[in-house]
Amino acid sequence: MPQLVDQIEELDFAKIEELDFASETYKDAYSRINAIVIEGEQEAHENYITLAQLLPAKEKELISLSKMESRHKKGFEACGRNLKVTPDLEFAKKFFLGLHDNFQTAAKEGKVVTCLLIQSLIIECFAIAAYNIYIPVADDFARKITEGVVKEEYSHLNFGEVWLQENFTESKTELEEANRQNLPLVWKMLNQVADDAKVLAMEKDALVEDFMIQYGEALSNIGFTTRDIMRLSAYGLATV
Ligand SMILES: [Fe+2]
Ligand SMILES: [Fe+2]
Repeated sequence: MPQLVDQIEELDFAKIEELDFASETYKDAYSRINAIVIEGEQEAHENYITLAQLLPAKEKELISLSKMESRHKKGFEACGRNLKVTPDLEFAKKFFLGLHDNFQTAAKEGKVVTCLLIQSLIIECFAIAAYNIYIPVADDFARKITEGVVKEEYSHLNFGEVWLQENFTESKTELEEANRQNLPLVWKMLNQVADDAKVLAMEKDALVEDFMIQYGEALSNIGFTTRDIMRLSAYGLATV
């Protein structure tokens, strides 16, 4: 095993050596990836405020999560400024539109289970996967910020897991429906971002793998069986 670890470290080191954070190619890709991250944190901030209204018993906790998201957003804005990149926020808004609309519709209908699946499972797992893959290839400034952020995202994922686990029996059908509706959107998003991510030395296969591990573990913690998780994951492959 130590040999394998050495190889991985060498690989990451080689990747970082090749990266020129000041090059136009890097900055162009970063303008979209950085915007996606900023917009993702903004979405998360707003979604936890909405969830606080839907779950008054958890209001305090959810408002505190929404404030963390707002801090994350500021951190990533600083990462963009540090590399002298202007984030393409218009692109990022379009990127999140599918999940955004589905969350808004569910919130209007009072579907708290669907809202939790979209924000606390899908968006958090997407963020955790992206940040985990980004950290080894980030510039020094962004790496420190992202390391701090990812720790907090795990606690947000945990909030969703705990609530859904406690309410598993009555949530199961809605979770399956929400998964079927939203998981294909994640696949679309991962494909859309693959080329830009590659410029930042983030491989799509690694992003997909990390996302599926986090998401599968979350579903398992909530109470789904391995067979359920396989079936739920397969819906991600459906086209939208
Ligand atoms: Fe966040
Ligand atoms: Fe979060």
